[in-house]
Amino acid sequence: MGSSSLLSAVARRLEGKVALITGGAGGLGSVAAKLFHEHGAKILIADVQDNQGRLICKNISSETASFIHCDVTNESHIQNAVEKAVSMHGKLDIMFNNAGIMDTMKSDILDYNLSDFEHVFRVNVAGAFLGTKHAARFMKRVRKGTIINMASVCSVIGGVGTHGYASSKHAVLGLTRNTAVELGHYGIRVNCVSPYAFPSSMSRGFLSREEDDPMDDIESNLEGVHLKAEDVAETVLYLASDESKYVSGHNLIVDGGFTVMNSALTVF
Ligand SMILES: NC(=O)c1ccc[n+]([C@@H]2O[C@H](COP(=O)([O-])OP(=O)(O)OC[C@H]3O[C@@H](n4cnc5c(N)ncnc54)[C@H](O)[C@@H]3O)[C@@H](O)[C@H]2O)c1
Repeated sequence: MGSSSLLSAVARRLEGKVALITGGAGGLGSVAAKLFHEHGAKILIADVQDNQGRLICKNISSETASFIHCDVTNESHIQNAVEKAVSMHGKLDIMFNNAGIMDTMKSDILDYNLSDFEHVFRVNVAGAFLGTKHAARFMKRVRKGTIINMASVCSVIGGVGTHGYASSKHAVLGLTRNTAVELGHYGIRVNCVSPYAFPSSMSRGFLSREEDDPMDDIESNLEGVHLKAEDVAETVLYLASDESKYVSGHNLIVDGGFTVMNSALTVF
């Protein structure tokens, strides 16, 4: 049975919903866009990579997947993207603040440039803040919606990312929790997802890997499993769907147990 006929045999989990995905031209964003669409959602991809974003939409569906140029650090771009989703489809159910960057400043704090630190914060934190703000502007009116922010295992532990990246992902978790408290009063859920490393342009760039490196040597604590963008997208799908209707303010960690292990003290 093909994947689409298999899906029609089970419930499509986002039937009739509208989703805006920032960074949707990238590794995880494009996989999530395809998965959301397979589950019945109409998709708007917002990214700075215009050609790649348009191609992904064309491959998904020229009718129910579309692209908008959007730099998430620019408030009017984000506002336009939300307004386009609502004007095209009449609503916005799912805001996936996925766009993010990892700087390559693997230097110690004394050599770390303020400008690099601020740039990572602009994209990873201000981008999620603006996405939340403008999605909430619409969602508050209808008193429902789900907002999902991309964090990382770097949101809860130190030492596995640069200072800028780790600080930014801790901040994404703070933003998630604070906005979940406020927006919960309007029926809007806000959660974040924190994966371990999975193959993408970002992680390959950071780890100095070739573009087609499957990164199968990158292991967590879970024997015989390698995290892929598809696995993370499934987690995001859960938070986007009504199956998670009582889940809010949560940091869903997808790391094979990496962050609960202390290799200095472990007895296993
Ligand atoms: N790959 C990993 O190992 C990993 C692990 C944990 C968390 N994450 C997070 O997952 C998310 C997706 O990352 P990915 O691995 O798919 O990387 P990726 O580089 O493949 O995708 C990131 C996308 O964000 C877009 N983007 C960057 N700056 C932007 C801006 N200013 N405005 C709009 N779009 C912008 C890029 O064009 C790209 O399409 C990020 O938030 C990242 O921090 C990734």
